Amino acid sequence: MKAVVCGASGGIGQPLSLLLKASPLIDELALFDVVGTPGVTADLSHISSVAKVTGYLKEDDGLRKALTGADVVVIPAGVPRKPGMTRDDLFNINAGIVRDLITGVAETCPKAFILVISNPVNSTVPIAAEVMKKAGVFDPKRLFGVTTLDVVRAETFVQEITEEKDPSKTVIPVIGGHSGETIVPLFSMAKPAVDIPADKLGPLVKRVQFGGDEVVQAKGGAGSATLSMAYAGYRFTRSVIKAVKGEKGIIEPSYVYLPGVEGGDAIAKEVGVDFFSVPIELGPSGAESAQNVLSSVSSEEKQLLEVCKRDLKGSIDKGVGFVTTSP
Ligand code: NAD
Ligand code: LMR
Repeated sequence: MKAVVCGASGGIGQPLSLLLKASPLIDELALFDVVGTPGVTADLSHISSVAKVTGYLKEDDGLRKALTGADVVVIPAGVPRKPGMTRDDLFNINAGIVRDLITGVAETCPKAFILVISNPVNSTVPIAAEVMKKAGVFDPKRLFGVTTLDVVRAETFVQEITEEKDPSKTVIPVIGGHSGETIVPLFSMAKPAVDIPADKLGPLVKRVQFGGDEVVQAKGGAGSATLSMAYAGYRFTRSVIKAVKGEKGIIEPSYVYLPGVEGGDAIAKEVGVDFFSVPIELGPSGAESAQNVLSSVSSEEKQLLEVCKRDLKGSIDKGVGFVTTSP
């Protein structure tokens, strides 16, 4: 199992690479970035775990060397937000970074599972899909937008109400996109069920939707969530790898191209957009099936979904257009 991290020297890239290096599920870990990979690689390579670590820069065809033989490619490359910015403000820089990295994937390891962390996820995943389509190698079951941090936040913030000892024991589906009001946590479907007083539900939902801003503010210009994202990114990567290795019953919400995933077409028609996050059953070929949770949402959640759908459409069109209108 070879995993590649693109953007490995960054705030997310370094702790994510550490977690992947420590995982017994990975035999080979390749680190790619435009700066800093020799140092990060030397440092991680002293850890006495299974994975063999290699590092690459852009020079000497580094991207192609890093991606050769990759099974999983995780992408946290690109600039993060500063206070006062939206994720969409990152589009102008990050769109090109993601396009170029995915072009490398399409040419070098088109069968790899691609996990996109770079923001704005609502647009960068459509960019990735279009690049793979243009190259004739798009497999929707293998492309994931990583929205796990929203799930992790929902689990954590609801714990302040439930007082459950281990927050990860409460499963909360989070659907939609990964930005402000496109993030729709479904507390009505929490398992085990949670009893949230009416006056606490609205603020809880808002906190999950704007959890990213909380960290951006607290870091005061030094970036956005990195450590919690590395945890979330590792959790999702581990789930994909375990499912690929044959473990059954692994379900994680992820932002995918729904018409290409079993059960997803009906959901796409219902929400009116093709890219959308829902709980995905993972398996050996990636996204095995999409779970339609829409019929069970509460009336409050229905209203949240209306706002989500409206906002998502523009971000998806912007990502698709970035690739389809360029020569
Ligand atoms: P960072 O600036 O600390 O690190 C980004 C890294 O990407 C840097 O090391 C940089 O050199 C590298 N990079 C830039 N261009 C590159 C290229 N062409 N190829 C390879 N590497 C390149 O930023 P960060 O805090 O790690 O955040 C990275 C991205 O992840 C941001 O876009 C951020 O908004 C996003 N993010 C997403 C989520 C999510 O939930 N999906 C959560 C947190 C952050
Ligand atoms: C997050 O949710 O923390 C990330 O998307 C980073 C950000 O810009 O908020």
